[in-house]
Amino acid sequence: MIRVSSPHITDEDVEAVVRVLRSGMLAFGPVGEEFERELARYLEVKHAVAVSSGTAALYLSLRALGVGPGDEVVVPDFTFFATASTVLLAGAKPVLVDVELETYTVDPSQLEGAATDRVRAVVPVHLYGHPADMDQVLRVASERGAHVVEDCAQALGAEFRGRRVGGLGHAAALSFYPTKTITTGEGGAVATNEDQIADAVRFLRSHGQRQKYYHVELGWNMRMSDVQAALGLSQLRRVDRMIEKRRALARIYVEELSPVPGLRLPVERPWAKHAYNLFTVWVEGEGTRDRLARFLGERGVETAVHYPVPLHRQPALAGVRKARGCCPNSEEASKHVLSLPLHPGLSEDDVLRVSRLVKEFFCS
Ligand SMILES: Cc1ncc(COP(=O)(O)O)c(C=O)c1O
Repeated sequence: MIRVSSPHITDEDVEAVVRVLRSGMLAFGPVGEEFERELARYLEVKHAVAVSSGTAALYLSLRALGVGPGDEVVVPDFTFFATASTVLLAGAKPVLVDVELETYTVDPSQLEGAATDRVRAVVPVHLYGHPADMDQVLRVASERGAHVVEDCAQALGAEFRGRRVGGLGHAAALSFYPTKTITTGEGGAVATNEDQIADAVRFLRSHGQRQKYYHVELGWNMRMSDVQAALGLSQLRRVDRMIEKRRALARIYVEELSPVPGLRLPVERPWAKHAYNLFTVWVEGEGTRDRLARFLGERGVETAVHYPVPLHRQPALAGVRKARGCCPNSEEASKHVLSLPLHPGLSEDDVLRVSRLVKEFFCS
């Protein structure tokens, strides 16, 4: 089976984790701190604060910015659930906006109308690894006095106008789930250039205490362990090579599949570096996407749909406000997108085989 995503684990990764296990110091400590320093250096930000998941990173970023009851937060309708659920968990209300259909990131023309006086933050998602148009996001947010929290869960190493995503807004959330560009099993981080935000995230991830057993506020245990951090640190040492491998495989897909009518391939805007956390194509025609997925599955190729249900249709988000004009694109995307296998463990031959099968499907 050619897997759609798969973590890339080397002997060095295993040894790094075993070293921590043997040390007897498993909770967050020196290895976690080193992971935070190296991650901040990689992202070109002042602080990276390691947490238990990307969801925790989004939630803690919002809380650290003071987002809460009475506030609205603009999020795209086409993304993973956590981008919006964390707004509700923080006590605020999401406002859903549509995405544009080439990069599947927030449609800048929708932002203006969506950002009312109650909007306290905007959460652009760099979906699949392609950055959102941050010039537009930052402009609208600053005109409204709103914060920007980048959802970088799928975009470690992506660039906007030559700058790594993660340091472009007030805070950014990263995920190290096993399908992501680097993994810690489960895990995440908040990146920020602002001391106050980093301090608040550190405080809230650990029971609202600055001094051991003295709790000034209600917080959570959303810490990362040193076992996880050891894996993350080891993976981070080769992150650029892993991204280059993803980009090289993506280029093969593009070469092989661009003549195929009925398929729209991912684009890379002139101002963007795509990190290709996912290689997601658009399959034309009613029901064709699902037929292609079945065809590939029967021939040993796993695919996935990111995402089959737009946020405005999620039962848990019933009643959430949609901005005017939201969200025909998101609705269509949920019916047509299909992620093909892409991860550093694949060979060029694997990608050629998948491409051949896709072409066979469209010719048969
Ligand atoms: C766009 C996006 N946001 C947030 C998350 C949440 O990250 P995690 O699964 O680490 O909680 C994910 C991960 O699936 C994601 O893809």
